[in-house]
Amino acid sequence: MKLTCVLFALLFLLWMPARSQHIDVLTSGTATSIRGLSVVSDQVAWVSGSHGQVGKSCDRGKTWRWFTVPGFEQRDFRDIQAFDTLTAIIIAVAEPTVILKTTDGGTNWKAVFTDTTKGMFLDAMDFAGKVGVVVGDPIAGKLFVAFTEDSGNTWQRDTDSKHLEAGAGEAFFAASGSNIKLQINSVTHKRELFMTTGGLKSRLFLNGKPMELPIIQGHESTGANSIDVWGNHAVIVGGDFSKDSLRTGNCILVDLGKKIRMTVPVTPPHGYRSCVVFMSNDTLVACGTSGVDVSYDAGLNWQMISRESFHVCGKAPNSNILFLAGNAGRVARLTF
Ligand SMILES: *[C@@H]1O[C@H](CO)[C@@H](O)[C@H](O)[C@H]1NC(C)=O
Repeated sequence: MKLTCVLFALLFLLWMPARSQHIDVLTSGTATSIRGLSVVSDQVAWVSGSHGQVGKSCDRGKTWRWFTVPGFEQRDFRDIQAFDTLTAIIIAVAEPTVILKTTDGGTNWKAVFTDTTKGMFLDAMDFAGKVGVVVGDPIAGKLFVAFTEDSGNTWQRDTDSKHLEAGAGEAFFAASGSNIKLQINSVTHKRELFMTTGGLKSRLFLNGKPMELPIIQGHESTGANSIDVWGNHAVIVGGDFSKDSLRTGNCILVDLGKKIRMTVPVTPPHGYRSCVVFMSNDTLVACGTSGVDVSYDAGLNWQMISRESFHVCGKAPNSNILFLAGNAGRVARLTF
């Protein structure tokens, strides 16, 4: 009898890790470091990266088509936003700053925004329907924020906000295009913009209002790299990309109730993480150069499921599929 109990207990323990996840690599070898990822559906995903490369799959990631954007062979596309199989927007970081749009599936790209201001460096972009936002490093001490109302055809810099003064050494990371989040509140229908900065200072801007973040900061390589929001909860990840196995101050859980409350996980992710994604209200994935972590309790405890390096990950809407992308043109898939 006792033996049977022990056996059952053992079987139960053996069955438990059945939850462990397997990452399927879909493509690799293209000479590009991918930082931009936009998942349109479980069928369609676009990626963007260095050497002027954009990639697209329309068959769940089975086959990939790569485009070199003419004239941009030496440029880096740190973020991409795709609307369908034909339409996408990319940002070329550094000077001169250019935002490009394709409406024919990636063959032709047209500049929809250019700025030759010295020091311009666009970092990330996000959309909620036709409305979009792009952010860049400070110009004359003010964080660069511009909006579009027409799916990226025209852009207007936000010159109204009084709160966009950057602290010394405070900027945005261009690690995964996920350090900003734009959404329409389902109850109030109001626009909500979350922005996280990093560097010597790392803060959360909620609709333009800055808040201190209890995340690692103080060096050029430290701070928040990514934010995702589900209902009244936000999770922010980051760390120190120059010490990518460091686990101190690399994750913040934010309660967005009437009074904003910030806490840290019990078991943080296992190193610097450049991107975080909610799969559901309690399942989260975070990836970075030192590996991939999953949390099943809304970010309180994280377990490492892979030591493989990925810069960015993105969930397919209305699906349990997650795409991941990183160095050497690598794109992978994780199914929950
Ligand atoms: C997530 O949703 C499920 C089902 O609705 C619920 O049981 C669970 O408590 C929720 N988790 C969190 C962290 O809110």
